[in-house]
Amino acid sequence: MKSKVYIETFGCQMNVADTERAATGLRQSGYELCNSADDADVVLLNTCSVRERAERKVYTRIGEVRAARPGDRNLVIGVMGCVAQLEGESIFSNAPTVNMVIGTRATDRISSLIERVREGERKVSDLGERGEHEGWDVLPVERHSPHVAFIPIIEGCNKFCSFCIVPYSRGRERSRPASEIVAETNRLKSLGYKEVHLIGQNVNSYRPRIENGLEGFSGATPFCRLLRAVAATGMPRIKFTTSFPRDFHPDIVTAIEDNPNLCDWIHLPVQSGSDRVLKAMRRGHKRADYLERIERVKTSNRRLSLTSDIIVGFPGETDEDFRQTIDLVEQCRYDSLYIFKYSKRAGTPAASFPDNVPESEQKARFLELERVQKAIQEKIYREYVGRTLSVLVERQSSRSETDLVGHSTCHKVVNFPGTSALEGEIIDVEVTEAKTNSLYGVVRAA
Ligand code: 5AD
Ligand code: SF4
Repeated sequence: MKSKVYIETFGCQMNVADTERAATGLRQSGYELCNSADDADVVLLNTCSVRERAERKVYTRIGEVRAARPGDRNLVIGVMGCVAQLEGESIFSNAPTVNMVIGTRATDRISSLIERVREGERKVSDLGERGEHEGWDVLPVERHSPHVAFIPIIEGCNKFCSFCIVPYSRGRERSRPASEIVAETNRLKSLGYKEVHLIGQNVNSYRPRIENGLEGFSGATPFCRLLRAVAATGMPRIKFTTSFPRDFHPDIVTAIEDNPNLCDWIHLPVQSGSDRVLKAMRRGHKRADYLERIERVKTSNRRLSLTSDIIVGFPGETDEDFRQTIDLVEQCRYDSLYIFKYSKRAGTPAASFPDNVPESEQKARFLELERVQKAIQEKIYREYVGRTLSVLVERQSSRSETDLVGHSTCHKVVNFPGTSALEGEIIDVEVTEAKTNSLYGVVRAA
């Protein structure tokens, strides 16, 4: 009998998608997938290394998994994802109870690694590239939600921002053929999925080797054409994340304006409001370039929700640089903002930059920016009260048995009373109350 496998996922949506893909491959090879480490013969941790704290979590978790099963010699532990790719076989010395190290492009070869461990090799690793013809199939049962599906369109990153480990952990950009993406969207639609997220480190850098699937769709870039091609499938809601400022062509907004099923939400990380810091970050855009890009977003004939990422306390960031970030945030009026304290990543250029900002200062800047954003966000959210939003009902609320929760097309969390019969439906919700990060409302009769 084949073993039971449990996969635990940390980090970004790309890891969620890799877990779905790995689980599909394992099930097709005869493995059973289970929902808890306690029931599993093989525990796989799909890891994130974007910041130090995420990376440390892996080692804590390996210890916990092993400690829960003292003396169980049959338990196989594997580390997949970004930490596996970056640290490689040194994981075996840092955590001697680990049996497998599975790189970010080895998700389709896990079953043969497990077999090798079962046959007596106690330490196996695969840090190789994806095979030329490896499939992207995901079984519906492995999807993280029955209503919302992630579709990777581009893997890796060529941007090499000086702080970021992703180009090293995920390799160069590789775009998936558009015909495959469109076919997957059609398949998901016929299975009843209501929403897809086109995902990638930089979706708008999408550049497939061949044009298949984009014929007949207009647009200034392959990504704009892909958006139109995916919209033409009639999938009810299409979101995409993450976009890269330098490649953010105004035609993306035009495509959204022309297709109501392209959702009204754009995630466009800026990282800093200071040109000096942006240059040291090697972002390839200045403050003014970014503001120009979002001008088209702000003046669109649809009200587009705009969200961003910012790093505070980058090496050499002065108080004046930070003031410029605050000023930019006030100008952009983001619907939501992810703020991160700079975390040094070994192997990146910024790791050797001088003038590190002390932790206490990083923390102070984090809190100040958070306060500024909170005030802006509360105002934006309050403007939704009285409005009706189209909401995809995703699940029961974890806070209340009588409440349901879903997302609006503008990617806001919306809570409202209702029964589970509504799950998977797209309904109108009238907003009655706004909190900082979520909205509350009531279902409007159809
Ligand atoms: N330190 C802090 N934040 C980081 N990010 C990426 N690398 C680092 C780092 N070394 C943030 C960026 C990115 C988001 C996914 O994570 O803001 O957009
Ligand atoms: Fe990292 Fe920059 Fe690539 Fe984003 S664009 S994944 S921040 S290197």
